[in-house]
Amino acid sequence: MKAAVMRANNAPLEIEEVRIDEPGAGEVLVKTAASGICHSDLHVIEGGLPMPPPCVLGHEPAGIVEAVGEGVTDFVPGDHVIGCITSWCGVCKFCTGGRPYLCPSQYAGRAAGLDSRLKDAKGEAIGQFANLSSFAEKMLAPERSLVKIRDDMPLDRASLIGCGVTTGLGAALNTVHIPAGASVVIIGCGGVGLSALQGARITGAGQIIAVDAQPWKFDLAKDLGATDCVNAKEVDAVAAVHELTGGGADFVFECIGLVPTVQQAVAMTGRGGTTVLVGVVPVTEVVPISAADLTLQEKKITGSYMGSNRFRFDMPKYVDFYLDGRLRLDEMISSRIELDEVNHAFDLMRKGEAARQVIVFD
Ligand SMILES: NC(=O)c1ccc[n+]([C@@H]2O[C@H](COP(=O)([O-])OP(=O)(O)OC[C@H]3O[C@@H](n4cnc5c(N)ncnc54)[C@H](O)[C@@H]3O)[C@@H](O)[C@H]2O)c1
Ligand SMILES: [Zn+2]
Ligand SMILES: [Zn+2]
Repeated sequence: MKAAVMRANNAPLEIEEVRIDEPGAGEVLVKTAASGICHSDLHVIEGGLPMPPPCVLGHEPAGIVEAVGEGVTDFVPGDHVIGCITSWCGVCKFCTGGRPYLCPSQYAGRAAGLDSRLKDAKGEAIGQFANLSSFAEKMLAPERSLVKIRDDMPLDRASLIGCGVTTGLGAALNTVHIPAGASVVIIGCGGVGLSALQGARITGAGQIIAVDAQPWKFDLAKDLGATDCVNAKEVDAVAAVHELTGGGADFVFECIGLVPTVQQAVAMTGRGGTTVLVGVVPVTEVVPISAADLTLQEKKITGSYMGSNRFRFDMPKYVDFYLDGRLRLDEMISSRIELDEVNHAFDLMRKGEAARQVIVFD
């Protein structure tokens, strides 16, 4: 099968013939229908998230089950599925405590003694990203990395739910509780930020302020529910939010992952408000913030990982949200591309010139 292989950091992905193993016990072979491109893939390429090359990236997929391994009970060939990073074990304290997205089993990879799921043409092992590696025509995934969805859901739009939508929507719907009428700021209007924005709209937030450095995104943000937009390139975004909200917002979602925008997020948060860190700051960096500001104004900061999801429960619900018109996905797709255009897609992402780009397979 064809796959985009990361052979080195900060280098273009290479389109290669890659061998994929047969499904082992508890595994499912999926024909990839579509894969969204998420900034976390770019973080890996740039070294901000550690994953040694060679590997195949891509973790926002939808597809159709082709074959199942021994003991698989939840899927049969022909099922339409979405894949998710946060595979779960079902028995650890996070799973049984209701937070399966924190389950450490998602980092485990294939069972010991089994061959690599992916190999190059010479038979050398290739790393699989997030048990998925969706920049490839097929994926071999644990059944607990997949969820079955309705057949009438278009798979290109379903793929977005695999990461960006679940992350952004879940940050607003699961990680925090946004009371109707609350003021919300979204910093960064990529696939994740626009999903958080829609989550805020769905909860009935009052003011929803979109902040970005690319003003072309503002028509889209307004269409999806923003009441105000702030161009961070032209104005002091913190002062603008304080002005618009009368002293700071109730909830601020940082959806970029930069040190200055995390600091801005805390500064935009009003007294008693909550800053939600959704963007991934490179693991090599730390963010200085004023502790006194938190104490004296009782501000809270929380991280939000993969939308605090229970994806077998959340994703079919988000599919229903799309099909009944509450979640808008068509507008979020700025282009549909082929696998060999993936490097150009990352160039556009670096420049902020795309919303969500989706690789569509035949
Ligand atoms: N928490 C999680 O579980 C999780 C899951 C998926 C993605 N992420 C992270 O979320 C972040 C966003 O991902 P994405 O795919 O939406 O990215 P993206 O590149 O599509 O969007 C980023 C947006 O930020 C804007 N931007 C960049 N620099 C800016 C600045 N200085 N000021 C204002 N706006 C600026 C860009 O114009 C763009 O609209 C990434 O860090 C990604 O790794 C986190
Ligand atoms: Zn992602
Ligand atoms: Zn677990």
